[in-house]
Amino acid sequence: MGRLSSIFSLRHLLVLSLAANASLILRVVYESDKSSLNPVNQRSDALMAGDDATQKTHFSAPSPPPSVAGAAEDRVINLDHGDPTMYETFWQKMGDKSTIVIPGWQSMSYFSDVGNLCWFLEPEFGKEIVRLHKIVGNAVTEDRYIVVGTGSTQLFQAVLYAVSPHDAAEPMSVVSAAPYYSSYPAITDCLKSGLYTWAGDAREFNKDGPFIELVTSPNNPDGHTRDSVVNRTGGILVHDLAYYWPQYTAISAPADHGIMLFTVSKSTGHAGMRIGWALVKDREVAKKMVKYIELSSIGVSKDSQLRAARVLKVLSDSCESPSNETQPFFNSVYHIMAERWRLLREAVKHSGLFSLPEFSPAYCRFLNQSFENQPAFAWLKCEEPIEDCEEFLRSKKILTRSGRQFGVGPQYVRISLLDRDENFSLFVKRLSNIHL
Ligand SMILES: Cc1ncc(COP(=O)(O)O)c(C=O)c1O
Repeated sequence: MGRLSSIFSLRHLLVLSLAANASLILRVVYESDKSSLNPVNQRSDALMAGDDATQKTHFSAPSPPPSVAGAAEDRVINLDHGDPTMYETFWQKMGDKSTIVIPGWQSMSYFSDVGNLCWFLEPEFGKEIVRLHKIVGNAVTEDRYIVVGTGSTQLFQAVLYAVSPHDAAEPMSVVSAAPYYSSYPAITDCLKSGLYTWAGDAREFNKDGPFIELVTSPNNPDGHTRDSVVNRTGGILVHDLAYYWPQYTAISAPADHGIMLFTVSKSTGHAGMRIGWALVKDREVAKKMVKYIELSSIGVSKDSQLRAARVLKVLSDSCESPSNETQPFFNSVYHIMAERWRLLREAVKHSGLFSLPEFSPAYCRFLNQSFENQPAFAWLKCEEPIEDCEEFLRSKKILTRSGRQFGVGPQYVRISLLDRDENFSLFVKRLSNIHL
């Protein structure tokens, strides 16, 4: 009897343990399924995998494209955001050249360069900014203050803070010619500031008094090269030159404006690094911008600046001394953009339902050739009888941003052309075959 009961309890234990193991296995499978669908989980998995601080971190396996899901024909293609994942291929080819290792004890102080007006600018990054502009010839850096920001988004806010009078009776008007970058109105008004307020399309602006005009050239969303449009004095011009690089437009001369904004997001493709820089002529404006960044984030990530310095260095080296393994960055991405625009125009022609902006060729002093703008976005117009282009393309599972968000009508949409190859190819194929 004693033996029987011990066998019985052993069997019981065996069954229990099998059941427990099975449920554990099921749980692991279920959890890993969940995380593979979620790019956020994938990213934290990658970070966990690289938790040895001395190891060169290879997070190179890119997370799955958030813009692609499901079988090719049924996939939703999300081209709403200008996420520059197209650039991954170039940087993967660069391998360890653009890898940096930051020991745990480094970058601990708030301060980078106490003698500099922009005390949180890493000197190495400042040096590489000047070097790159000299090589490309797209901006004057002499007699300019460099202010680094958490993306050019923070610098834009710093500029608004710096140039608006703090004792004025009413907020300063901020304008930009439509179609304008859709984030300008939202960022300007997000805090309902007493210093500045969004005043819409610069072409319609007729209010007396001081104003800030944002000049984006080449422009987001339509890709045209631009000058200021408000034709009177009393305005402060802010030149957003995020796309003034040879893969998008001919570099005809070094830009020489009072306030110029640049970002790695659209030049090197490192949007996730969140680094931008401003070249500012006026010392007082630069000082106030630094003050704003001090107030909003006590400086800018040193780790990101060090990484940005390395990326710019590799890029400049690739232009100055190309080799078999290191092809010149701008030539390489120029060709990708040229091919994407060729395929896009072909698809638009084949479909017959859309139109795209036309550009005149200009001579590029960097690439030594003439070419037409090949913007980061397609500013697509749906022809009649389609009234709402965004809605129409959504019904074909292509997600875009409506013209309404850029201050114009719903017959236009903005489409990112900086997505990964696979997604871009799927997009042009689908666009080409759309018929009413
Ligand atoms: C014209 C323009 N300015 C600024 C930005 C934002 O740049 P960042 O990623 O550096 O904040 C963008 C991003 O799309 C842009 O198109």
